[in-house]
Amino acid sequence: MAMQPWFPEAKLGVFLHYGIYAVDGVWESWAFYTGQVPHERYMKQLDGFTASRYDPAAWADLFARAGARYAVLTARHHDGVALWDTAQGDLNVVRHTPAGRDLVAGYADALRDRGLKVGLYYSHSDWNHPDYASAVHPSPRKEGVADNPFASARPGEEDPEAWARFLAYREAQVGELVDRFRPDLLWFDGEWERTEEQWRMRELRDLVLAKNPETVFNARLLGHGDYATPEQGVPLRAPEGPWELCLTVNDSWGFQHEDTNHKPVRLLVRYFAETIGMGGNLLLGVGPREDGAIPAEQAARLEGLGGWIAKHREAVYGTGAGMPAGHHYGPSTLSADGRTLYLVCFDPPRENVGVRGLRNRVRRVSVVGSGTELAHRVVGGHGKVPGVLWIDAPAAADTDEYATVLAVELDGELDLYRGAGRTV
Ligand code: GLC
Repeated sequence: MAMQPWFPEAKLGVFLHYGIYAVDGVWESWAFYTGQVPHERYMKQLDGFTASRYDPAAWADLFARAGARYAVLTARHHDGVALWDTAQGDLNVVRHTPAGRDLVAGYADALRDRGLKVGLYYSHSDWNHPDYASAVHPSPRKEGVADNPFASARPGEEDPEAWARFLAYREAQVGELVDRFRPDLLWFDGEWERTEEQWRMRELRDLVLAKNPETVFNARLLGHGDYATPEQGVPLRAPEGPWELCLTVNDSWGFQHEDTNHKPVRLLVRYFAETIGMGGNLLLGVGPREDGAIPAEQAARLEGLGGWIAKHREAVYGTGAGMPAGHHYGPSTLSADGRTLYLVCFDPPRENVGVRGLRNRVRRVSVVGSGTELAHRVVGGHGKVPGVLWIDAPAAADTDEYATVLAVELDGELDLYRGAGRTV
């Protein structure tokens, strides 16, 4: 199945880690797995999870204002606590928390009402399921996994029947998600503790596609996904094929009271522009509080990024990766017809902005947002080696607080010189 076109066109998604870990503000699932918090204490958070301000329509409105075209919600993280009324297993917020209701359905409906695509995160691993630690990750044995009682059976104590039950549970849960909510995107995680064969990844993919052939999968299906998902680490060159950088707005996926290290809007604009300039999407992570409210500092970041995107929408939506590094000091995007280049200038340009190696003639250069036309000229060049395009810097009043974008209209499709210059 070819990649669904909406995905590479979406540019921005919002990643929601919402779960009982927000009650005490501890590391999602990992807190008990690593022993940071005793298991009992972690599970006690079930009693404090109220979802009392759960308002998915407000989420969807905020995401739309942020310029996002999709969101991904943790339907079930590694802690095994499902956010919907699953008929599988016993652990879900409907039966075991004061929230007492399904938190996936409202989210899916609200997003669709707003014209946003619906993504659901689902962890293959379930560190609370009685049948999960029945298998071991075969060689090379990974330390921290092979000896973790939440993840692995002790050598000699593997239980293939229990493992088969676990797989049936996972397949049934994923089946429920697809049947009930018909997600446009399934964002899997937690694959590293077993092999592709142990997980039966191909079967899982086939099962989903049989129900909804249009489902998009991230890559954490060990070879059976549709797009790459670098996490937190910014790639220096585009991964092959469609991709998405997932990035936290502060330093945590879930809500953590003491984490106030929020990235300023200026930085988010940089991450976003660099990502789309290499043809990827940004999936920006926010962590709602246990009551369902997105912390004000995080909402403000989404709004700020959304303001920049709205002003520069022509350089964002409907564009693809721009020029490789070296032609312009900053990222760029390219219109779908290949005839307009958008240069992102992070710091207010002084004097001029240069583009090297451009073979095309330039028809017009203007500032995106205001439309102000800028003078430009080509200097130098020799034979096959094009000269440098110098664009006059816009007036200070015409620069953007976060990043100024210049639209360069070309006489045809972008044609770049990539050589080593003229050797004499
Ligand atoms: C990691 C973590 C998990 C988080 C995910 C987001 O895989 O295990 O806690 O949900 O990254 O990409």
